[in-house]
Amino acid sequence: MMTYFCDSPRPTSFCAHFFAAVMLGGAAAIGLAGCAPDNPGMGGMGGMGGMGGAGGMAIPPAPDMIAVPPWSGTLATSGAADKDPSAKVVEVDLNAAPGEAEYLPGKPTQAWMFNGTIPGPVIRANVGDDVVVHFKNDLPEPTAIHWHGVRVPNAMDGAGPATNEIPPGGTFDYQFTALDAGTFWYHPHVKASAQVDMGLYGVLIVDDPAAPKLPIVGEDILVLDDVLLDPSTGARGVPDEMRVQMMGIEGNLALVSGRRSNVGVPARAGELRLFRIVNAANARFFRLALAGGTMIRVGSDGGRIEKPEVAGALLLTPGERAEILVRVDQPGTTATLRATPYQRVDPGEPTVEIDLVRLVASADPPVQTTLPATLRTIVPLGEPTVTRTIKLGEETSGMETTFLLNGAAYPNVPIVTAKLGTVEEWSLVNESDMDHPFHVHGFFFQKDGEREWKDTVNVPRKATVKVKIDFGTREGAAGDWMYHCHILEHAERGMLAELMVE
Ligand code: C2O
Ligand code: CU
Repeated sequence: MMTYFCDSPRPTSFCAHFFAAVMLGGAAAIGLAGCAPDNPGMGGMGGMGGMGGAGGMAIPPAPDMIAVPPWSGTLATSGAADKDPSAKVVEVDLNAAPGEAEYLPGKPTQAWMFNGTIPGPVIRANVGDDVVVHFKNDLPEPTAIHWHGVRVPNAMDGAGPATNEIPPGGTFDYQFTALDAGTFWYHPHVKASAQVDMGLYGVLIVDDPAAPKLPIVGEDILVLDDVLLDPSTGARGVPDEMRVQMMGIEGNLALVSGRRSNVGVPARAGELRLFRIVNAANARFFRLALAGGTMIRVGSDGGRIEKPEVAGALLLTPGERAEILVRVDQPGTTATLRATPYQRVDPGEPTVEIDLVRLVASADPPVQTTLPATLRTIVPLGEPTVTRTIKLGEETSGMETTFLLNGAAYPNVPIVTAKLGTVEEWSLVNESDMDHPFHVHGFFFQKDGEREWKDTVNVPRKATVKVKIDFGTREGAAGDWMYHCHILEHAERGMLAELMVE
């Protein structure tokens, strides 16, 4: 149980979440007194936890999760209405505005939403379509929409120096061609930690009608998130600021597409469903497993992977996506998609299992299905013309933790300049005691020779991950992009940099 709660939404209750330029410029006065939650769940760890990590400072414990009983419902998400009758254009209206969510039955929570829903409406297009989004900002502060993973023209990226911040009441038309099939998402990149935490995120799906068909009975979009609530009222909880600055904000209630977790949906043994999963949480890592069923990974950040892979567990860090086929194996049984413990900081912390979705199979006899052996051909990127080392670090001075790229915090990280039409290899060397999900805007990469396209990759603590980035030419590819840790609080505490592509 958290001891401290208040009922104002985060952006007004504590506004220390700006991008790093602002953050480091002096908005960092965070009151630490009285922040330690009285957390009985820590048991043997004792009080503040006594853990090291983050430069030797003790990390206060995570909030205890609210117990969520199993419930039955739907995974359906709302879609955005296409206003343009032509087949090659998807034209939608999107607005961001304050509203109310009901995560706990009968207990309203103040939230910020796209088109009045969390997640925002699913935007769906085919490869090659033009996507036009008429955006209106009805929030009390500036915002912008970033199209995470989408190879948009630089001026449409909604982030970084190229961004138009849209003032309250302002409008902006985002326009781009959907070049790649896959499961993408959109979220603000202005005060991102606060705005995304308040509920501003949605999914963009791009289909490739020519791709091999999967033998599925249906598909669901699962946007994973968590929210910190006062369990008795549904009002937003006040997080422990010391923990937030080290680990990012984590909630005490896991959300699946804007609903509390542990929802049961009907199924039949043997049949395959496609789950398109987005981790939209600021900081929570979801290590997914399907207990009592089979999970087959078929897609990654940038669409389908080359061959289906049966997966025992699948780590999805903030920003990453996975497309998985799920199946209950036996009639009359239940398969549970569960977040299983994963240690993202050293020394480790107590973690809990969270049941996210249950597939409840009828007694009908199992269905047989066969999958295509190859989903897509992915050609490995060639020899890099440039190799770079990017060191991920952290530094604590006094009560402030800063996250670093090559020893500096944004905006002091030297700008990387890359040439269009080249492949670069970046060695991401994590020297810190915690994992960092590394995200590059505007370009896909391949990890260590894996046959899949990524835009976000976890770099485990004290480990090195090598990625080859494809700076292939396309319209609007030149410009000032960015890369950063997708723990949004880490990005805002320095782990963000500019990438000039010319
Ligand atoms: Cu979802 Cu700059 O990222
Ligand atoms: Cu990080």
